[in-house]
Amino acid sequence: MQKIETTIVDGKALAQDIRQRIAGEVANLTCTGRRKPKLVVVLVGSNPASLSYIKGKQRACMSVGFDSEEILLPENISQEKLLAEIVRLNQDACSDGILVQLPLPTHLCPNRVAQAIDPVKDVDGLHPQNAGALLLGIPGHRACTPLGILEILDRHHVPMEGAHAVVLGRSNIVGKPVAQLLLERNATVTICHSRTKNLPAVTREADILVAAVGRARMVKADWVKPGAAVIDVGVNVIDDKLVGDVDFEALHGIAKILTPPKGGVGPMTITMLLHNTLNAYKIREGL
Ligand code: GUN
Repeated sequence: MQKIETTIVDGKALAQDIRQRIAGEVANLTCTGRRKPKLVVVLVGSNPASLSYIKGKQRACMSVGFDSEEILLPENISQEKLLAEIVRLNQDACSDGILVQLPLPTHLCPNRVAQAIDPVKDVDGLHPQNAGALLLGIPGHRACTPLGILEILDRHHVPMEGAHAVVLGRSNIVGKPVAQLLLERNATVTICHSRTKNLPAVTREADILVAAVGRARMVKADWVKPGAAVIDVGVNVIDDKLVGDVDFEALHGIAKILTPPKGGVGPMTITMLLHNTLNAYKIREGL
């Protein structure tokens, strides 16, 4: 079989580069006496993975000169109380971005929560207005992980126009929006899911393969066309080790571009959250 030189994506370095640009812009804004942009993260319950993610978001905010706030709410909070908290944050003049960490406990409806957030402050891009704006190709916040994936592909000069992009997973936060962004860039997009038949045959056709299903090492070497760009969004913990949806080691020598399970898509997602928060700030400040 053809041997390919695989480039492992350094998501941390890419993220650092973009964060520097954001930090520079924030410094320019605040040195003229303006307030800092502010992100508010709401966590319901105390899921350890979510706690670790929100710490990462807080650190990222600090690194670019944003204010940030974490609101920790009890696991058994009612839907009404959570919505009331969101209404309060919508009205708070100093909060630019609101992110309600997912997953939520099962008694809470993520769609109702997304609909309660002021679309301008909806830095996750999950409000129907933002999701609809993506579909129509009009301005609005785009979901962070899909934005980060597009940035990775662009920075590695992966051609999208005319490419066959295969997306594994149809979530509202990754699968559907990344498929739409790839379509906007003139890729031919196939979305696969749990009922897709003969999945390996479909993925083998992909020039760009995005895996976002949450099944450890599902994508094997013989699922991937030599020379494909493979973006692994999966975060699975196996024996205390972080593994993606892709069999990372097995894809060396097959994929042309490959994201690692750690330091790949993750840092880019948080960086795009900063990007969206800065955009929300600019809109709110009339800049
Ligand atoms: N949980 C894991 N990733 C995300 C994300 O991008 N946004 C939200 N709100 N929750 C998440």
